[in-house]
Amino acid sequence: MTALLREVETAQPLGFSVALYAANKRLQVVTLTAETIAAFDASIAQWPVQALEYKPFLRYAVADKLDAITGYTLGKFLNATMQDRNTGAFLLQYEGQPDIAAGELRTEFDIKLSTAVSHLVGLPNHDAMYGKYYARFTVLNDDNSDSYLRQAHRRMELHNDGTYVNERTDYVLMQKLGEAHMEGGDSLLLHVDDWADLDKFYRHPLAKKNIVWGAPKSKNVETKVEHAVFFEEDKNGKPHMLFIDQFAEPQNMTEGLYLYEMGKSLEEDENFFRVRLPVGTMLVIQNHCWLHGRDKFVAHPQLSRELLRQRGHFTR
Ligand SMILES: [Fe+2]
Repeated sequence: MTALLREVETAQPLGFSVALYAANKRLQVVTLTAETIAAFDASIAQWPVQALEYKPFLRYAVADKLDAITGYTLGKFLNATMQDRNTGAFLLQYEGQPDIAAGELRTEFDIKLSTAVSHLVGLPNHDAMYGKYYARFTVLNDDNSDSYLRQAHRRMELHNDGTYVNERTDYVLMQKLGEAHMEGGDSLLLHVDDWADLDKFYRHPLAKKNIVWGAPKSKNVETKVEHAVFFEEDKNGKPHMLFIDQFAEPQNMTEGLYLYEMGKSLEEDENFFRVRLPVGTMLVIQNHCWLHGRDKFVAHPQLSRELLRQRGHFTR
C-alpha cells in the first residue's frame, strides 16, 4: 500500500485529482476538474470524431491537448499507474459538463476524451468487430448474438481480452456512453495477484503449454491462435495471463480439465470487486494482470446500455 500512495504523491496532479477506489485500493480514481474539461472541450471543438477516424495523427493531437492542460502530469500519472503491476488500473471521470447538450454531440465529446486517454497510454488496435480504432455497441434486453458480450441476463465470466488475436492487448478501455433502465450489470474486476488459486494453476504442468484459441463468427476473426494461459512474465518475473473460457479450444482431456478447473476457480474466487461506471466515465486496465467481467442485469423491456471499448498496446 505504501507503494500505491507514493505513486499518487509523486505525480503532483494538475487539473485532476486522484483517490483510491474504496472496494480495492489498486484501482486509481482519476477525476478531471471542470476547468480541465472546459479547456479540453474548447481546444478540440474544431475536430469532430469523424476527423479523428480519418486522420490517425489527430488522435495524438487530441491526447496532447488534454495532457498539456494538465501540465503533462496526467499522461505521466496514467502511464505510471499502468506500468505498476500493483495498480495497473484507473477509473477516469470528470466534474462539470462540456458546453454541449445531451445526445449524440455529448457522446462525441466522450469519445474524444477516451481517444485522448487511450493515446496517452498506448495505441489502440484496429477493432475487427466494429472496423475502427474503437468499438461502440449496445446491450439490449433481447440479444441473439453468439457470445456473452451483449447478453444482459447472465454474468460474463472473468477473463482477459485479446486471447484469440495475434496483436498484443496490453490494455483495455471500457467507457459508458449511455444507459437506461439498468439495474445491476456492474463491471467485475480481479487482479491476478489477488486470485487465491494463482499458484496452483501457475505451477501446473500445463501453465506454459500452448492452447488453441478461436473466436465466434461475430468477431470477424477467422484464424486461430496458440498461446499458453501464462504466456509471459513481467519485468519482475510475475505472470501475465491470457484466459477466456468461451474461446479456448482444448484438444484433449488434460487440457479440457485444466481449463475447466481454472474457469471454476476464477468464478468461485471471492477477491473480485464490482465497479459501477456512470455515463461518461471509463475504466482502463492492464489486461494481462487484471481479469474483467460483467455482473448480470435485471431484465427490463426498455433496458439499454451503450458502451465504447478500445483495446491496444503500450508504446513506451
Ligand atoms: Fe472483455
